[in-house]
Amino acid sequence: MLDVQNTSQPVVTRRADYTAPAWLVPEIALDFDLDPRRTRVRARLNVARNGAHDAPLRLDGDGLAPLAVRVDGVDADWRMDGATLEIALSGDAHEVETEVEIAPERNTQLMGLYASGGNLCTQCEAEGFRRITFFPDRPDVLTRYQVKLTAEKARYPVLLANGDPVASGDLDDGRHWAEWHDPFPKPCYLFALIAGDLAANRDTFTTRSGRDVEVAIWVRERDLAKTDHALHALKTAMAWDERVYGREYDLDVFNIVAVDDFNFGAMENKGLNIFNSRYILADPDTATDHDYDAIAAVVAHEYFHNWSGNRITCRDWFQLSLKEGFTVYRDQKFSADQGSAAVKRIEDVRTLRAAQFPEDAGPLAHPVRPDSYIEISNFYTATIYNKGAELIGMMATILGAEKFRRATDLYFDRFDGTAATCEDFVSCMEEAGEVDLTRFRRWYSQAGTPRVTARLVHEAGSGRAMLTLRQTMAPTPGQPVKEPMVVPLTVKLFGADSGREVAPEQLVLLSEPESEIAFESVGERPILSINRGFSAPVVVETDRSAADLGFLSGHDDDPFARYEAMQQLMLDTLVSSVQRGRGDHAPVIDAVRQTLLDGDLDSAFIAEAVLLPSDSFIGDQMAVVDPDAIFRAREALRRDLGRELEGEWREAYEAALANRFEYSPAAKGARRLKNVALGYINASGAPDAASLAFVQFEQADNMTDRQGALATLASGTSDKRVAALDIFYNRYSDNALVLDKWFATQALSSRDDTAQAVEELSRHKDFTLANPNRARSLIGAFAMNQRAFHDAAGRGYRFVADQLIALDKLNPQTAAKLLPPLGRWRRFDKDRAALMRAELERIVATPGLSKDMFEQASKSLD
Ligand code: ARG
Ligand code: ZN
Repeated sequence: MLDVQNTSQPVVTRRADYTAPAWLVPEIALDFDLDPRRTRVRARLNVARNGAHDAPLRLDGDGLAPLAVRVDGVDADWRMDGATLEIALSGDAHEVETEVEIAPERNTQLMGLYASGGNLCTQCEAEGFRRITFFPDRPDVLTRYQVKLTAEKARYPVLLANGDPVASGDLDDGRHWAEWHDPFPKPCYLFALIAGDLAANRDTFTTRSGRDVEVAIWVRERDLAKTDHALHALKTAMAWDERVYGREYDLDVFNIVAVDDFNFGAMENKGLNIFNSRYILADPDTATDHDYDAIAAVVAHEYFHNWSGNRITCRDWFQLSLKEGFTVYRDQKFSADQGSAAVKRIEDVRTLRAAQFPEDAGPLAHPVRPDSYIEISNFYTATIYNKGAELIGMMATILGAEKFRRATDLYFDRFDGTAATCEDFVSCMEEAGEVDLTRFRRWYSQAGTPRVTARLVHEAGSGRAMLTLRQTMAPTPGQPVKEPMVVPLTVKLFGADSGREVAPEQLVLLSEPESEIAFESVGERPILSINRGFSAPVVVETDRSAADLGFLSGHDDDPFARYEAMQQLMLDTLVSSVQRGRGDHAPVIDAVRQTLLDGDLDSAFIAEAVLLPSDSFIGDQMAVVDPDAIFRAREALRRDLGRELEGEWREAYEAALANRFEYSPAAKGARRLKNVALGYINASGAPDAASLAFVQFEQADNMTDRQGALATLASGTSDKRVAALDIFYNRYSDNALVLDKWFATQALSSRDDTAQAVEELSRHKDFTLANPNRARSLIGAFAMNQRAFHDAAGRGYRFVADQLIALDKLNPQTAAKLLPPLGRWRRFDKDRAALMRAELERIVATPGLSKDMFEQASKSLD
């Protein structure tokens, strides 16, 4: 770790140092006098000594000064130890009261109690509660909450908190109050309140045991019409969790509130989920199919947390994946059940490869159960969430569906009402699954993506085929030497001549550095299909020829394996183009044609299968990333695919043209393929391509088609480009979520002038760093645009660093989240690497830098 003058020595928290809390807080009564400028918070804690010790009570605070401290009703002695309030207590149980004042409208970090769009709301995970009141802010202190909210009635007619409403009333002075009671003990990170001028879309859900739950989605009045999709998703998720996991909802009300200023997607506060409005609001005119899908997934995710997260929470933040990995796994399966499971799997793997594999290969690599952190907010990562979900998926594969369900039942039953560990979860898998997961546990402790090489050798004479598997894993920061992992690989062999199965699918558990699997009576040359369904989150290297990959892409009976074979074929072609300046496009063109014309495939699958790997995924395959050469190679292949298959693309395009909007798997698939086809027609250079896109842009009855056309135009040079951007801006200038798309579309453009355009957009009157969605839509999207961001002169790096330094002063958490693309300097040539490092050094040297940014930037320099 770098030692810098201007940063006070960062405190490292280590998993090995865990000790049980010295004091428990079985009950709390909170009394809020709400006001944007000064909110008075009174807290009455019943505290209980935990075990025999004489340690004082220590209550976390962040930016708080006690106005009063009373113990058992009398003013008490206390002292501040940094931000922590310390009170010496003589007995084993006391009533401790504190009073503080906070200013929600000055809270730009959006952690704790803050103002958004005229409302007051909270975010407490991970350590925001200590910005509201003094409390042992750690997930293993479980407390029953009683909350009273008082606020001006005209301005804040709706007052919500966790649990069930118990009483409310009006005061003489224009203020009113409401009391909420949550019967389930919970950690303080699940605390929430809302005071606002909100309208509800209400419904009733009857649980399978016959309990009526009042569900409601709260938004601004004018957004009410955009909440039906989220409400429907919620009820579908509630029924799904009963059916698939036997989990019922447990309170009389379930409220969801949407706010515009939010640091991430949403938050599972008990009975009162708070959402980023982008994961609630949808109508055909303003939300894409992707938005609709994401809304359903996030609504389900937060709802599922009621069991995997709330009823059973985490002992400490190192166990974060206990709730996040498992809950992502649950929401992925939920989404798979709503439409095409194959397409959902493809999307999830694409996300993993785009976000998690690079993390595992870079300076911020960390295990699914990390060993240390400076700022826990930096660990809400693709590794904890998405790789964590893959770990659950691998255990489900190893156990089989029936035992997996038995194991989750055991887990929910045994650990209900407790703060548990990843180890607790795995031990339930082991016990109910009757398997030994000793070595499997390395997935929790070792960072990095395993690499498996597979070699298949066939002896025609004996009919014997030998599959040799070897695994390796590169060192990651702090872990120079890796132990072999347990890698569950589903494998199947097809005959090269007959095209038929010559060895049935089997699950191979590779647990040694090397292992051999023999197949008997294989009469013809076999073709290897491996890691079917993406059974393990690993990189598989094979020596399969273009012809064999082409065969699998057209004939494998596992849809994921078909997709994967096509991707591999495309990658091999692109990497060789980049390295040798020229690749043979014909096998890719043939395979894409075969997929496009396959009448048995649905449009959604075809659309995914024919898409080229992204610039950055191509870069991930190379020792040194050459952004310009990658861009050229990919564009050349796109152009040839466009030209050679122009007739097929036009047919696919026209077949989908007449559809009216409908949100169904078939209609979504048709739109997806239509927009992919539009992209290829455009890549072909056909003279009418821009007008085709412009007509689609103007006539679209939905945002998927409108934004799809806009994206195509925004990357081009036609005279329709500026017109479309202006029309889009004017049409949606009062809709923040759609304006985010307008910014992001331009930041993702493949035009040569994108870096300059993005700099100009950062001075646009609608651009602000204060809103995380807006910041991400420009800065975050731009940093994903490999060629534009990695401009050889360093213009992109400088711009992003400038923006992050500015953002850090407002909102360190959101700033730090956007830093990782700058940290990948090791993957680039030495000139780019030097420019990137210089920006990281400038960031680390910034006076007053947050610990969030310090951790990300200094680790990236190491
Ligand atoms: N628990 C929330 C979820 O389900 C996310 C909370 C993120 N917190 C943070 N500090 N980044 O996804
Ligand atoms: Zn979550």
